[in-house]
Amino acid sequence: MTNSSDRASDKEKALTVVVIGASGDLARKKIFPALFSLYSQDLLPAKTNFVGFSRSDLSPEEFREKLREHLACRYLPRELCGEKMGSFLSLCHYVPGQYDSADAFLDLYQAMRGIEDEDQANRIFYMAIPPSLFLDVSRALGASGLVSCGDHLQAWSRAVIEKPFGHDRASSDELVAQMAQIFTESETYRIDHYLGKEVIQNLIVLRFANQIFEPLWNRSYIESVWISFDEDFGAEGRGGYFDRYGIVRDVMQNHLTQILALVAMERPRRLDAIEILNEKVKVLRAVAPLKMEDFVLGQYVGSDRGGVRRPGYLDEESVPSDSTTPTYAATVIRVDNDRWRGVPFIVTAGKALERRATEIRVLFRRSEENLFKIDGETPPPNELVIRVQPDEAIYFRTINKVPGLRMRLAECDLNLRYAQAFSGPVPEAYESLILDVIRGDKSLFIRKDELETAWDIFTPALHEAARGARKPEPYEYGSEGPEGALELIRKFRSV
Ligand SMILES: NC(=O)c1ccc[n+]([C@@H]2O[C@H](COP(=O)([O-])OP(=O)(O)OC[C@H]3O[C@@H](n4cnc5c(N)ncnc54)[C@H](OP(=O)(O)O)[C@@H]3O)[C@@H](O)[C@H]2O)c1
Repeated sequence: MTNSSDRASDKEKALTVVVIGASGDLARKKIFPALFSLYSQDLLPAKTNFVGFSRSDLSPEEFREKLREHLACRYLPRELCGEKMGSFLSLCHYVPGQYDSADAFLDLYQAMRGIEDEDQANRIFYMAIPPSLFLDVSRALGASGLVSCGDHLQAWSRAVIEKPFGHDRASSDELVAQMAQIFTESETYRIDHYLGKEVIQNLIVLRFANQIFEPLWNRSYIESVWISFDEDFGAEGRGGYFDRYGIVRDVMQNHLTQILALVAMERPRRLDAIEILNEKVKVLRAVAPLKMEDFVLGQYVGSDRGGVRRPGYLDEESVPSDSTTPTYAATVIRVDNDRWRGVPFIVTAGKALERRATEIRVLFRRSEENLFKIDGETPPPNELVIRVQPDEAIYFRTINKVPGLRMRLAECDLNLRYAQAFSGPVPEAYESLILDVIRGDKSLFIRKDELETAWDIFTPALHEAARGARKPEPYEYGSEGPEGALELIRKFRSV
């Protein structure tokens, strides 16, 4: 994300990417396809190898076939695709083994020594496994001598881990402390894949490369900020995982809090990871911890909307029939600093809603002294909409004269649609993030203090919820969400 160029030495040095949990969904559907995209664009070091490790008993051929199913040539002409895929797959190796077995990791060690034709290959260990296994695996990696530690050695080792990082502040701290025994903070890359999305990376550019926004980006001109995550499907198939976490931990504490930090932070002094992360931490520290009463919580129930039967959350096989895990949450976050004091950040996230979209909406203040009226009313306020997914777009709602001999006004959009404005495919978040791990650019990863601060905002309410303090409000699958949330939205959105 920052202006850093590849370090020449890292491009020349051999690299081994070890994917632990290689038989899983994340590995097959996201990580290996992203690695292939980077490989097909010659963005990886010339001597790069890929090693999958998991318990499944697969031959190397079976493993490669599993990977092939999800590879796509997004950056290559069709005629070059087959050959490039073949050469990529020939670099993909597989070692089966248990996650807590020293012998299995010695097998991995031997396999890697056989593949790496020099002593000093850089190594990435991508933990594509349930978080309960992070520690066992890190310890086994350390014990087998696979991790070279400290920055002084000629080759580096980096660990990539995916959320959830714990389930509250204390468990997150413990995970961080235990992992730190094997991988230092500078060697640990905590992924929030939302930060790798193009539109999210563009936030900092939009705000700070365009002079028009900064003078307006404050409480004098902005009435409210809306950050929403709507999914049009339920927990389908992921009920077991989801029920342990709920929507606040799954989406709000990480993805949406990260977005809020990027929208609200001060301008970093420089475009480097330390400065950017410092500003993100600073703004998150200005947010007071939330209480349970600050939330509207919901849980979807079955519906027959449009003549289609949709199951409720409690109908999911892997969900306990008395679960009170919220599948919807809405809250109002206040940032107590000079820029934002008094401006509500309305943050909502829900599953099984009527639409699928992740959006940021910045609502500007309406001026009562407007010269113009629409149907006798002051025109609606300007609004900047940043759509993260699907169909990435940024548009600005403005008031314009409708062509004609009369003075008639209408609200129209100044519109940037990525698909029309930019040629070529929009990179997947994982492509960008994995490349940053190789380059050692940590600006899009979650630093320890950032993680602590994000948990501090949500932990008190999560603990209150765990004491069974509140049952979530029911809302129908395919609806706009629970009534309590709609009331909250109406309260802050008068237009
Ligand atoms: N899928 C996504 O898009 C996504 C997005 C964000 C974050 N994540 C996070 O990324 C990690 C991996 O996600 P995933 O969807 O790939 O997970 P997964 O499919 O459930 O697990 C990955 C692999 O880990 C092994 N495994 C699963 N459960 C295990 C258990 N209880 N004990 C021992 N091994 C077990 C399995 O391999 P073997 O049986 O062959 O060992 C499985 O193929 C998780 O931390 C998840 O929260 C995933």
